[in-house]
Parts: sequence; C-alpha cells; structure tokens
Amino acid sequence: MANVTFSSPLLPKDVTVYAVAGDTHTLLKVAQKNKIPLPFECEDGNCGSCVMEVVSLSDKPFMAQDLTEKERATLVAAGKLSKAEIEEAVVNDRPPRYRLACQYIVRDEDILVRFSGEPGVV
Ligand code: FES
Repeated sequence: MANVTFSSPLLPKDVTVYAVAGDTHTLLKVAQKNKIPLPFECEDGNCGSCVMEVVSLSDKPFMAQDLTEKERATLVAAGKLSKAEIEEAVVNDRPPRYRLACQYIVRDEDILVRFSGEPGVV
C-alpha cells in the first residue's frame, strides 16, 4: 500500500489516497479513480499535459524508475529534464523531479505529487 498525496491550487487541501502497489496503475489512473483533476490529453507520454513534480515522503531511498524514451523526450522538449538529471537517472538510478503522470507507475512508497492544474505547467 502506498500513500499518494496530491497537492495543487485546484484542491481545497492536500488529498491523500491509497494506491495498491504493484498493480501497475499509472499515477494518472490513480488520480482519475480518485477524482483528482490532474490535467491530461494524450495519455500516452507525448503531449506533456500531465507533467507533475514527485517528491518521496519515505525515509527509504526513492525507488528508481526508468524513464521511457518517450517520457524522456517529452520532458526534455518541455524544459523539465536537464542533461544532468538524465545522467543522475542513468548513472545513479535517481529519478528526476518532474515526471509524466501517464507514464509514472505507482510503487510501494509514499509520495507527494504537486501539479498546478494548468496542462504542461507544474
Ligand atoms: Fe500526454 Fe501524459 S497525458 S503526456
């Protein structure tokens, strides 16, 4: 079980939901299931509408997740992923700060998800 806390100016207060880890749901699906108004369009990693900031709330090391080529390209094009962050992800297995909700698979860790509510803007 993972606690996923959503924080946005669109929400009256932060909302924490429980996601079943390992069921391979994306963060976007978890948001939709819980009526969190996280913006999206393509749901396929191409448009960048669902960009968000992910912060680990756990004492354990952040669970690494590989960026797909598509997510990497979209984040770079949006100016949300630097060369240094790509290197950190590849060399040190450290996930970048900004991710795409439609590509991010929920793991067994507590996270804070920040989004502005404006498509493509964190
Ligand atoms: Fe288009 Fe996620 S909805 S990249």
